[in-house]
Amino acid sequence: MESRPRPQTCRWHTYTNLGELSQAGAQRILHSARECIARSGRFSIVLAGGSTPRQVYALLRTGSSDWSRWQVFFGDERCLPADHAERNSRMAAESWLDHVAIPPARIHPIPAELGPQQAAAAYAKALASVPEFDLVLLGLGEDGHTASLFPSHDWGDTLDSPPVLAVLDAPKPPPQRVSLSAARLSQAREVVFLVSGAGKRQAVADWRAGRNIPALAIAPPGGVDVLLDF
Ligand code: 6PG
Repeated sequence: MESRPRPQTCRWHTYTNLGELSQAGAQRILHSARECIARSGRFSIVLAGGSTPRQVYALLRTGSSDWSRWQVFFGDERCLPADHAERNSRMAAESWLDHVAIPPARIHPIPAELGPQQAAAAYAKALASVPEFDLVLLGLGEDGHTASLFPSHDWGDTLDSPPVLAVLDAPKPPPQRVSLSAARLSQAREVVFLVSGAGKRQAVADWRAGRNIPALAIAPPGGVDVLLDF
């Protein structure tokens, strides 16, 4: 822990249900994009995988933004064929990205179909031109994992950690994944966690108690915001 860049600052926001959480999440994303585009002319976002973000992404389909200014990256990906139904990139495309005018060249899926090591090396190169993300979205697993950073595995949470990790034995299927490291996910102006479902209660309790779960290793200078529906 001592070699982490900084301790995590965490702000908790509770909503009545996933619908309200999703509305708040979508508004937060569009607001962040508006601010960044006004300030710098561009907006870089890292997308969360899993199922929770699906409603947020679907709401963004009808959002108003200068989509041509967006750059889209992914926090992690499952090592499955590019068009596989369980790919995080496919979920984001079907629910949102296929329906807005973000130029395809500015959407950067992780080439996880290449296998964990090759994909991690390739994605590290793709990220080299982005020193700091404007907004990182993350989920939380029932065991406290985030992206594909799992308990008892390497989270890449030290200053000298690589930006992208090859994951070979993930406890959440599929076992082979690619994940941005905790250190790289922390190089962000804003980080928002989307956490839904009573099954996450213990992980959140552990997190609030300061137990060392992977989510605690995400420590951007501006702190993290956690949107919860319990
Ligand atoms: C994945 C995700 C993973 C996810 C959590 C929560 O590839 O599975 O990156 O980190 O965000 O497991 O998943 P749910 O949103 O489906 O509960």
